[in-house]
Amino acid sequence: MVVTEYDVLAEVYEWLISDAKLPPAEFAASYDDVLSLLPPNARVLDCSCGTGQLAVGLAGRGIEVVATDASEAMVRRTAELSEEYEASVRAVRANWEELPDHFEDDTFDMVFCVGNSLHHAAGATGRGAALESMSRLLRPGGRLVITSRTWELVRARGSRLDIWDRLVRRNGRDAVVAYRWEIAPQWEDEHHIEIAIAQVDATGPVLVRSELLSCWPYRHEVLEADLHRVGLRTEASTFDPEAENYTVVASKV
Ligand SMILES: C[S@@+](CC[C@H](N)C(=O)[O-])C[C@H]1O[C@@H](n2cnc3c(N)ncnc32)[C@H](O)[C@@H]1O
Repeated sequence: MVVTEYDVLAEVYEWLISDAKLPPAEFAASYDDVLSLLPPNARVLDCSCGTGQLAVGLAGRGIEVVATDASEAMVRRTAELSEEYEASVRAVRANWEELPDHFEDDTFDMVFCVGNSLHHAAGATGRGAALESMSRLLRPGGRLVITSRTWELVRARGSRLDIWDRLVRRNGRDAVVAYRWEIAPQWEDEHHIEIAIAQVDATGPVLVRSELLSCWPYRHEVLEADLHRVGLRTEASTFDPEAENYTVVASKV
């Protein structure tokens, strides 16, 4: 069996989501600013939906939501979460590049690609193709919302092992979370992040789930140029070279 990226992490992904964002309503509320820009009867796509907290939170507000992800296991978890919350979310497995095969151009008022997803697009070419797909699916005036790691900071720190400084408790089980960063010499090279979640039990056994993920970092200014190239104009960016993450909102010209 071929295991695609995130198919293992999908099983334990809740240990990677912050306490504050775990409830779907709270995850959606973290985007209140941009959501207030949506017209009535809006259609929204979350194109790297992961375990579905954002999609289910949006559906809970009465928004028509489609959730897509490259990982079959993630799409399954999104469908399960929708069922649990009795939310109406259409969940579809699709890579970014495949999106135009599933949806007409100009379909959505807003597309989300959040939670450190875009760096998984393979280099400048893959990122360009992914953004092109997202742009096509937006109606004119519609908005793309991207969140990103500040790779300028991540690369400056070099290869390393980060072990979170506190246990994370989910489903009655504690886990130690560790990230191993493999920083390549050049920006454009393939980088790796290995994420391990080790569930510990007072009686001794440790259950480890880990996955090695490929990623291709980009500078903030490169992302802005990439967005421009696919017909998107940056409306707002929280980029700060000292902060770990930033959000870019770009609208379709
Ligand atoms: C770090 S997770 C973020 C999930 C979710 N957005 C969140 O904030 O919790 C990255 C997600 O991107 C998805 N992904 C990676 N490469 C992709 C691609 N080429 N097309 C679509 N989704 C992709 C992964 O399967 C994974 O679910």
